[in-house]
This record gives sequence, structure tokens and C-alpha cells, in this order.
Amino acid sequence: MTQIRSVGVVGGGLMGSGIAQVSAQGGYPTILRELDDALCDKARASIERSLQKAIEKGKLTAEQRDATLGRLTFVTHLERLAACDLVIEAVVEHLDTKRALWRSLDALAAPHTMFASNTSSLSIVDQAAATKRGDRFVGLHFFNPVPAMRLVEDVRTVTTSDDTVDAAFDFVRAIGKEPIAAKDSPGFVVNLLLVPYMLDAVRAVERGVASVQDIDTGMQLGAGHPMGPLALCDYVGLDTLQKVAEIMWAAYREPRYAPPPLLSRLVAAGMLGKKNGRGFYDYSGDRPAPNAL
Ligand code: CAA
Ligand code: NAD
Repeated sequence: MTQIRSVGVVGGGLMGSGIAQVSAQGGYPTILRELDDALCDKARASIERSLQKAIEKGKLTAEQRDATLGRLTFVTHLERLAACDLVIEAVVEHLDTKRALWRSLDALAAPHTMFASNTSSLSIVDQAAATKRGDRFVGLHFFNPVPAMRLVEDVRTVTTSDDTVDAAFDFVRAIGKEPIAAKDSPGFVVNLLLVPYMLDAVRAVERGVASVQDIDTGMQLGAGHPMGPLALCDYVGLDTLQKVAEIMWAAYREPRYAPPPLLSRLVAAGMLGKKNGRGFYDYSGDRPAPNAL
């Protein structure tokens, strides 16, 4: 079976920084590629904060933090990922961007290198088809926040070899996560069910069913969810959620996947959720405060 000894991660936003962190924590030398030095610094700072939080909770020692950081390298040149055994992409949810990335990487990477996409909703085969290594192409769908969420969907497509699927399962277990096997259909398992729920919560705000805060409190206290659906939309990123909804709506043509106008308005206003401090809630104070929408 393919042996994974080193990992490359492309994109160091919400997901890429988390994936690079858990890969390095799992013992893999990990190279994270971002577009410029400032974005590399931002990804490194986010990983350092997350590791610090784990130390404060008594889940990590200072020595383990230092060893994890020692296994991480931040680069801007894609060529630096050429020798990695596994490259995972976590760039924006846009097919042409991902395909262009895979085309470049395919030309650079060692013949044995496995490719994995962390896409939320795009087809794996559409990405694999941009490369000449469809057999070594798989979906590895992590969940946000990556260090805390145990699941990874391991997505095989029509071209993926058994060896690649097995190596992907082994990697997921080696970093302390639980894999499930999912087919290459938009949204895989979790987003097929979770995305319509989040979009329904946005529609409930549009219809004036209740306030943002009361909808969230309702689902937390009434259904035992760790966070309410609108806080979750902010957590995922409203721009990402909008792209995911557009992709799933185009794929299924079912109204429950259609992006609600309020979501599009917030994205147009630059309110992207927790990652830039404003979405359904304002994150500038001590506690998130619902925005007047
Ligand atoms: N780094 C490291 N660990 C973290 C972390 C981070 N950034 N954020 C949270 N954690 C860990 C904490 O250390 C803590 O672990 P222990 O219970 O072992 O101590 C645990 O997560 C809970 O954290 P907190 O006590 O600080 O906070 P909380 O109890 O409010 O939980 C939460 C935070 C884990 C985010 C929780 O609210 C939750 O599970 N929310 C739902 C998240 C969810 O549904 N994610 C899926 C989004 S959809 C997606 O990802 C797919 C897609 O394609 C869009
Ligand atoms: P994000 O906007 O936080 O980060 C994307 C990052 O990719 C940015 O930092 C950007 O600079 C970088 N980037 C863009 N093109 C690049 C390139 N060619 N090379 C290197 N870096 C590049 O987005 P995110 O939330 O981390 O989402 C990333 C991917 O993960 C998307 O496909 C998304 O659907 C998926 N995903 C998101 C979540 C979530 O909850 N946000 C959960 C699971 C999967």
C-alpha cells in the first residue's frame, strides 16, 4: 500500500490551517502553501493559537506544541510540495480554481503522490479529470473546527484505486480521526443533510419566524445542538456556504439547496461570518451580538 510519510496542504484558511495542524500533530512533516507571506503568517498564527488553546485545556504539552510546529513549513511556491506523498487542497470552493491548481501540481508532483480534495460540495471526478492520476485522487472531507471534529469523509470516485482509498483511510486514522466511506455525490453524507438545515435557518430569519438569537437558542436547548444554525453559518463562513449552496442547487435542483437571498445579501455586504468578524452576529465585543439585518 502507498506509504504516506509527508504531507502537503494547499490553502491555509479556516480548513487548511486546521488540516496542516492535525497532520503535523499526527507526526507527519507537513508543508502548507499559501499565496503570499502575509497569508502564511496568518495561517501559522492561527495554528499557534489553536495549539495554545489545547495546552490551556491540558490536552497538549509545550514539548508537543514545539514538536508540532517543528514539523510545519510554510511556503508560497507550489514546487516545494513536489516530493510530498499526499497533497490535500483546501482552497476556495471554486471548481476552476481547484482544477487549475491540480493541473499545475500534476506537472510538478512525484509520480506516486496522492491528491486529495477537502471540497464541501464539488465533484471529485471533475477535479481528478484535470490530472493524469485519477487512480491516486480521493476526497478527504474534514470538518470545522478541524482539531475538534473527529470525522473525515473518505470519498472515492470512479477512477480512485483501492490502494488510494486504503491509504487515505490509514492516514485519517493515523491523525486520530474517524473515517467514513462516502460516494462522489454533491455534499457527500454530512453536507447533504446539514446544508439544507442551515439554509432553512436563514429562510426562517427571512420569514421573521423568530430572532437570530432565539432560533439559535431554540436549536441548542431544544435539540441539543452544540451551536445554533446561524452561529454555525457564521462559523463555516457565509461566502463558503453560499458557494456550497449554489453548487448543490445546480446539482440537485431541489429548492432546499437554493441559496436564500438574505445569505447572498450578507456576502455582497462583505459580512462573511466569524472569520472577518461580521455575519449573523457581530464578533467585535466580548460576546457575539446579533446584527440588525
Ligand atoms: N482547536 C483545537 N481544539 C478546539 C478548537 C480549535 N480551534 N475549537 C474547539 N476545540 C476543542 C476544545 O479543545 C474542546 O475539546 P474538549 O471537549 O476535549 O476539551 C472542544 O473542542 C470543545 O471546545 P470548547 O469547550 O472551547 O467550545 P465549545 O464547547 O463551545 O465547542 C465546538 C466548540 C467544537 C465548535 C462546538 O460548538 C461544535 O461542535 N459546534 C458544531 C461544529 C460543526 O457542526 N461543525 C461542522 C461544520 S460543517 C463542515 O465543517 C462541513 C462543510 O463542508 C461546510
Ligand atoms: P477560506 O476562505 O478560509 O480559505 C481559503 C484559503 O485558500 C485562503 O486563505 C486563500 O488565500 C487560499 N488560496 C486560494 N487559492 C490558493 C492557491 N492556489 N494556493 C494556496 N492557497 C490558496 O476557506 P475554508 O473555509 O478554509 O474552505 C476551504 C475549502 O474547504 C473549500 O473547498 C470549502 O468548501 C472546504 N470546507 C470548508 C469548511 C468550512 O466549514 N469552512 C468545512 C469543510 C470543507
